[in-house]
Amino acid sequence: MEENMQIFLSSLQEDLPDCLDRIWLRARMDQVPVIRDQVQSLLKVLLALQKPERILEIGTATGFSALFMCEYGPTDVQVTTIEKDEKRAAQAAANIADLGRQGQIHLLTGDASRILPSLSPSFDLIFMDAAKGQYIRWLPDMLRLMHTGSVLVSDNCLRGGDILESHFLVERRDRTIFHRMREYLYSLTHTPGLRTTVLPTGDGVSVTVKVEP
Ligand SMILES: C[S@@+](CC[C@H](N)C(=O)[O-])C[C@H]1O[C@@H](n2cnc3c(N)ncnc32)[C@H](O)[C@@H]1O
Repeated sequence: MEENMQIFLSSLQEDLPDCLDRIWLRARMDQVPVIRDQVQSLLKVLLALQKPERILEIGTATGFSALFMCEYGPTDVQVTTIEKDEKRAAQAAANIADLGRQGQIHLLTGDASRILPSLSPSFDLIFMDAAKGQYIRWLPDMLRLMHTGSVLVSDNCLRGGDILESHFLVERRDRTIFHRMREYLYSLTHTPGLRTTVLPTGDGVSVTVKVEP
């Protein structure tokens, strides 16, 4: 998206509450990737529309988005969030405790590939924000963990448009990631029982609703 448009859209964004703003700034200072303002406003709208009781997040980082979903979700929303980096998970645990959300956010430290098969259905909202190359592998688990009406939000799915780059212009590692991401988006848009829209918001976000069992 054009830079001017990005700036305009950012200028429409309401300020974060101080407690979340502090965590967001600290993450940015430490170069921890966190959801940007356009994804924040999309999530806010989805939370208000769907009013999820149970959320699953993959990719906690330092807890900003999990805390954000508690702030803007229903008062008693429960969030299960997975992070494999122990240092980030420790920082997330400290942030969650600071904001008094330990009763609502269940932080699981470890690789999502190992943890996902052990989770029981179902979640009303799933927010995928981890290793982009793994989304396609995790999709069967995601579908198992959703009920009819559940929503799956996958962040950074267009890598800011990079997934359209010519095969020859991207590094070998990225080629694999982009190939898998295109496969993932194809599955989301062509699997019977799913309705998906792919939005060029932020670095690309897809929103999928499971409409049939
Ligand atoms: C973009 S950051 C998440 C940002 C966070 N959702 C937020 O907005 O505050 C992605 C995180 O996913 C974690 N991650 C990557 N691969 C993972 C995996 N296989 N299992 C669990 N976490 C993973 C990374 O360590 C990183 O902290």
